[in-house]
Amino acid sequence: MQEETRRAYLERMGIPVWVRREASPGASGEPVPAAAPSRRPPEPEAAGAAPAASLRHRAATLDWTALEAAVRDCTACGLHAGRTQAVFGVGDRAADWLIVGEAPGAEEDRRGEPFVGRAGKLLDNMLAAIGLARDRVYIANILKCRPPNNRDPLPEEVVACEPWLHRQIALIRPRIVLAVGRVAAQNLLHTDRPVGRLRGTCHFLELGALRVPVVVTYHPAYLLRSPLEKRKAWQDLQRARALYREARNEA
Ligand code: URA
Ligand code: SF4
Repeated sequence: MQEETRRAYLERMGIPVWVRREASPGASGEPVPAAAPSRRPPEPEAAGAAPAASLRHRAATLDWTALEAAVRDCTACGLHAGRTQAVFGVGDRAADWLIVGEAPGAEEDRRGEPFVGRAGKLLDNMLAAIGLARDRVYIANILKCRPPNNRDPLPEEVVACEPWLHRQIALIRPRIVLAVGRVAAQNLLHTDRPVGRLRGTCHFLELGALRVPVVVTYHPAYLLRSPLEKRKAWQDLQRARALYREARNEA
C-alpha cells in the first residue's frame, strides 16, 4: 500500500501517525499525532422453545428467507423477551469476508442492523483500512438479540443462538472470518483463551465440509476505550488481508 494511503487509513482508524520533523512545518521536534478520529428457531412452538439439537437440525435446512423469518420470530432463549427486534445480520450474502461480533447493543436493537453505533463506525474504518466497504462483507453477531444492559452473553444463550449463525456461515461460505472481540472469538472457536493469545495466528472454523480460516482481533468498542491497542488491530487486519489473498490464490 502506498505510504500516503496507508497513513490516511491509519488516521481513519484513529491510530496516531508520527510525522517526521522535517515534514511538519514548525514542528518542535515532538512527534505529532495525526488528528484524533474525527469520525470520531424456530417459530414459537406450542410447547415452548425447541431443544437446541432440533433447532440445529431445522436451521440447517433453511434458505435465507426462511432463516431470516425464523430468527425474527425466535424464542429459543430468554433474550427474545427484551428485544425490540432480532438483529439478523447484514451485507453481501455471497461475501468472501464474514465479520462476527458479539451481540446487538441499544442502537442495533433499535435499528435492526449490526454495528451501527459508535463501535460500528470504527469497524467500518477498520474494514476500509483493508479496502473493504461495509456492503461488500457480511456482518453478523454471535447473539441476534440484545442482552439487557449489554451484559455478556450467557452460555445457554450462545448455545441457543449458534444454529442461526452456523446456518448463515454455511450459506455464505466465506473465505475468511474476522472475529472481533473475546465473545466472538471464544464462541466461534470454542475456546476460553483470551483475545491477546488468539490473535496473531490463524484458526479454523469447521462446519461440516466447510473449513474457514478465522482471524481474531480486538472489538472496536474495546479499541475505543484502549486506543493504544489500535496498532495491534491494524496488524491483525493486515495479516487477515494477506491470508485472504493467499487463500484466494490457492483456490
Ligand atoms: N457490538 C457488537 O459486537 N455487535 C454489534 O452489532 C454492535 C456492537
Ligand atoms: Fe433466539 Fe438468538 Fe434471540 Fe435467543 S438471542 S431469542 S436464540 S435469536
